[in-house]
Amino acid sequence: MKTFILFGASGDLARQKLYAALFELYAEESDFRRIGFARTEMTNAEFREIVKESVEAYVAKPDSKKLEKFLQTWEYVSGSYDSNGIAQLAQCCIVGEVFYYLSIPSGLELIQGVVNGLAKNNLINDGSSIVLEKPFGFDFGSAKKINLFVQKHFKETQIYRIDHYLAKDLVQDMLALRFANPIFEPIWNGKYIEKIDIDIKEDEGIRSRGQYYDKAGAIKDMIQNHALQLLAFSTMDKPASLSAKSIHEGKNAILKRIKLWSESAAEAISIGQYDGYKNEPYVSPDSDTETLASIKVRIDSPKWRTVPVTITSGKKMDKKTTDITIHFKKNSKNIWEGRGCEVQNNIIHINVQPDNDIRLKLNSEYDASDKCAYPTELRFGFRDNKMLLKEPYENALRDLFAHDQSIFINSKEILLSWKFIDGVLEKIKPLRKKMLKKY
Ligand SMILES: NC(=O)c1ccc[n+]([C@@H]2O[C@H](COP(=O)([O-])OP(=O)(O)OC[C@H]3O[C@@H](n4cnc5c(N)ncnc54)[C@H](OP(=O)(O)O)[C@@H]3O)[C@@H](O)[C@H]2O)c1
Repeated sequence: MKTFILFGASGDLARQKLYAALFELYAEESDFRRIGFARTEMTNAEFREIVKESVEAYVAKPDSKKLEKFLQTWEYVSGSYDSNGIAQLAQCCIVGEVFYYLSIPSGLELIQGVVNGLAKNNLINDGSSIVLEKPFGFDFGSAKKINLFVQKHFKETQIYRIDHYLAKDLVQDMLALRFANPIFEPIWNGKYIEKIDIDIKEDEGIRSRGQYYDKAGAIKDMIQNHALQLLAFSTMDKPASLSAKSIHEGKNAILKRIKLWSESAAEAISIGQYDGYKNEPYVSPDSDTETLASIKVRIDSPKWRTVPVTITSGKKMDKKTTDITIHFKKNSKNIWEGRGCEVQNNIIHINVQPDNDIRLKLNSEYDASDKCAYPTELRFGFRDNKMLLKEPYENALRDLFAHDQSIFINSKEILLSWKFIDGVLEKIKPLRKKMLKKY
């Protein structure tokens, strides 16, 4: 039997994502003991009510008998995130394969409390795995400290750093698009690609996250992790295999070569702040934190050096959308030119959310009246069959239980991303007030 232990079982992530994802996996993973752990005092029955409400809120029409059985697999232990609190867990007679999921506010202190608590109570062995949620540190130095500390107690193969963007269906679909279709890989480089755009836009503001967000901003909150991961995943070389090691090596090779497109911060970076941000709860009235950022980068390798990649992430945008757009160069010789017809760029547009589709813009429609080729779009995706779509946390947990780390992030990737981001933030530091535009 396997055991899943969820720290922060009373929290938002658990309620909004994890219980639903675990329920969806219940058919595949029924031989599991599940324990929720947090400081809030609750009986097993009260805790199961939280899990039930969460599944009913986030799973479409859950089967009531299955839900009842699932709830019976849960126990709740209340305690502090330190060795005294975790001593309560030690009394639960946990044996064999154990997954510790830290769904608690990130930061070295809390992670230390839990991990030292597990170690002191002899709850870490070769059968243990630990899942860490983002943010992984607040800069290069703090990320390094977290890595070093966790690696003292767990081998790298036991550490699962989750970035749920990588677990989204359409991101994983890109692997198949690029590497299962030999028509794309030969042209996936600077000889044929003109530019790449990575956009992560949210329509909401910061909600009640002011305390954290005002210290972080869009660059640390979204670009350091999700956007750089999408960039690495979109441009990495064909991995030697689908193993986690090969995929991590592929992404690492990109992350270590990311440079600003231009030495001038003002040319390569733009930042903005939405109207009303300073009135949000816990935000400083004279805050110069960016809620929108756009960074133009290059990957400094022969294959990519000439291709500008623009990464944009912002809050309070017109709509919530995540897109990867690959713009190909125009045909070098336009044989329609003499007719005054413009042949357009081919574009591959991957809409990671909300449409969950891939669109390929081709010049194809031949108009008999002017004999010109016109652009048209081939669209394929999951949008029309929601049943085929999986929630990212379901994908991530399935892989965790199979001990497949390929959609998780390794320690090097974290450090390389922070190294680049620390450099960007250092560059804009003296110019921040001048650069920040209202929108
Ligand atoms: N929410 C999301 O959608 C989301 C998405 C991506 C990543 N994440 C990451 O997932 C983790 C959990 O997120 P969350 O939104 O669930 O967090 P949360 O609700 O703020 O915290 C989770 C639980 O941790 C305990 N806790 C909160 N503050 C604490 C503190 N200062 N000291 C000790 N315990 C504390 C609370 O439980 P008790 O008081 O009962 O112990 C709380 O219920 C974070 O690292 C977050 O960055 C969240």
